[in-house]
Amino acid sequence: MSDASLTALTVEVVRKWDEAHGICGFELRRPDRAPLPGFSAGAHIDVHLPGGLVRQYSLCGSPARNDCYEIAVLRDEHGRGGSMAIHDRVQQGDLLRIGVPRNLFTLDAQAGRHLLLAGGIGVTPILSMAEQLACAGAPFEMHYCTRSREKTAFVERLARAAFRDHVQFHFDDAGAGQSLDIAAVLAAAPAQTHLYVCGPRGFMEAVLAEARMQGWAEHRLHYEFFAGAPADPGAETAFQVRIASSGASIVVPPGCSVVEALARAGVEVLTSCEQGVCGTCMTRVLEGHPDHRDTYLTDEEKLAGEYFLPCCSRSRSPVLVLDL
Ligand code: FES
Repeated sequence: MSDASLTALTVEVVRKWDEAHGICGFELRRPDRAPLPGFSAGAHIDVHLPGGLVRQYSLCGSPARNDCYEIAVLRDEHGRGGSMAIHDRVQQGDLLRIGVPRNLFTLDAQAGRHLLLAGGIGVTPILSMAEQLACAGAPFEMHYCTRSREKTAFVERLARAAFRDHVQFHFDDAGAGQSLDIAAVLAAAPAQTHLYVCGPRGFMEAVLAEARMQGWAEHRLHYEFFAGAPADPGAETAFQVRIASSGASIVVPPGCSVVEALARAGVEVLTSCEQGVCGTCMTRVLEGHPDHRDTYLTDEEKLAGEYFLPCCSRSRSPVLVLDL
């Protein structure tokens, strides 16, 4: 299991293209053109970027293809640097180290029908889901909301797709008549429908809040946040973490993550997304009560408090004892 060749591979960027305003697409293949590990719709890969950053990107190609992976990335000048690194420093012909696909956002095979809602660049896993459902002949409906047509990735691909009649675009600048009526779409869905939503946090929270208000059961709601809840350093307080193996106590001040505080004290915790999304940094808590800020653990796991994600989560108790 620890053999890195089982979990990581080298791929070549065989194509890089402008997919829409501010959005680049990347097609990745093995340098020897051998088949890639298979994936299911909703999967993502870790991409090791120039400068040492590691970021997760959803695969947006068809899961039926094993010759290439496709990802699409929105350049975010105000982000943490990953999107600018891939836009500016990764070119066609480059070799990249990537992780094998992992899926935390799967289609439910038991669902009678699927409702896919995408906001902006959140379309990437949703597009792959539409491909997989269309391939399987499963009933689905897709709604895709963006600011404008120029900022919409995959317009042409969706217009040409065999499943184009299942897709509705909603452009913000096209007038109120075109905007997505979340409440109406959810209310019109038959009882066995499962909902899948990906996009900006506000969009996802609005969709999920409406679904819950309409009585959709939790097992019918599927979603993937790009990042954990935004931190508010002003509202944070200091606490201590104690390392069980050494007994060392380390103060975590406001505005500093547990991972950062540990690193300053010479204790390394493996991280990847640094946003509470991927689960790489998951650490066992032996004493104390974590203040969970991630989107990786389930509500039950958060309640149990046995594990937490130190890249983003904090503590509700003055001390957290960690199994490190
Ligand atoms: S590094 Fe991804 S959840 Fe902490």
